[in-house]
Amino acid sequence: MAGPPRLALADVRAAEGRLGGRLHRTPLLTSGGLDRLAGRRLLFKCELFQRTGSFKIRGALNAVRSLVEESERAGSGLPRAVVTHSSGNHGQALACAAQMEGIPTYIVVPRTAPRCKQAAIRAYGGTLVPCEPGDKSRAETAARVVQETGGVMVHPNQELAVMAGQGTIALEVLEQAPEVNAVVVPVGGGGMIAGIAVAIKALRPDVKVFAAEPRNADDCYQSKVRGELTPNPHPPDTIADAVKTSIGPNTWPIIRDLVDDVLTVSEEEIKRATWLVWERMKLLIEPTAGVGVAAVLSEQFQAVPRDVENVCIVLCGGNVDLSSLTWLSDLPGKGE
Ligand SMILES: Cc1ncc(COP(=O)(O)O)c(C=O)c1O
Repeated sequence: MAGPPRLALADVRAAEGRLGGRLHRTPLLTSGGLDRLAGRRLLFKCELFQRTGSFKIRGALNAVRSLVEESERAGSGLPRAVVTHSSGNHGQALACAAQMEGIPTYIVVPRTAPRCKQAAIRAYGGTLVPCEPGDKSRAETAARVVQETGGVMVHPNQELAVMAGQGTIALEVLEQAPEVNAVVVPVGGGGMIAGIAVAIKALRPDVKVFAAEPRNADDCYQSKVRGELTPNPHPPDTIADAVKTSIGPNTWPIIRDLVDDVLTVSEEEIKRATWLVWERMKLLIEPTAGVGVAAVLSEQFQAVPRDVENVCIVLCGGNVDLSSLTWLSDLPGKGE
């Protein structure tokens, strides 16, 4: 039986070529205050400044460009449509990428998804297809839309071209900060960390790759501990809404083999870290990006050897639903 498709550095390099000039090279920022709190030098890869407000456009555009190249080679005309299920950043990113190429997009979105996210997908020209909340309805609805439209499904994290696109983050970080000793990456389906780990371990095996996830959505941690893919048993309850998804069959073998460790953090740690970045760095990150910051500020990270001095944290997105910020008022002491 064929195993999962394998991702290689060459795929990430090819993605770099495809994306060149179309996306932002996001800055690496520093903060003396946060360095003091962490006791190490921190390098913040600011994907919140990426087009569409998150790193997701890297993978989405690489997938769409790959489809366009394939159809050019085959002389078959543009794909009829691209389809995905995502209420969040991948939905926006795929709509934006497809709009750049003149391809219609259908995004399957749970009826309960925040209105601002639905509006953003529409603003990029995407057609919303409502479904019931839950993985089953999403997958079934997307499969039906693929059939009806003759479109191509672009999975948010298990698709090879998506992982390869996300891996371009690592190529930039290695160029921007060759002194980096570790990269900390929030994990949902694992597409971002898979792409990053493949690139880092091929080019600089001495650089550690750490996954960060909410303790309430710790499927990646559980999978590593058990040595087998262990999805979240129930829909997780976490403020870090972009990493509620579980890792999957294509990202798991890469995570198993190339990720050095998985750090888990509490909801309060995520909220405090997010607040801290807003207050000290003036960066409007979404709580999912706060997961990586919380991991580096956690007690668990203190056990990482001191020679891991320069630590890059991927600030993966900035799409905050501002109307949902009621949790701020519940946070005692805020960022103190
Ligand atoms: C802002 C943000 N960070 C992290 C992730 C997790 O990425 P992945 O599913 O590739 O692990 C997502 C996924 O939607 C995201 O939108």
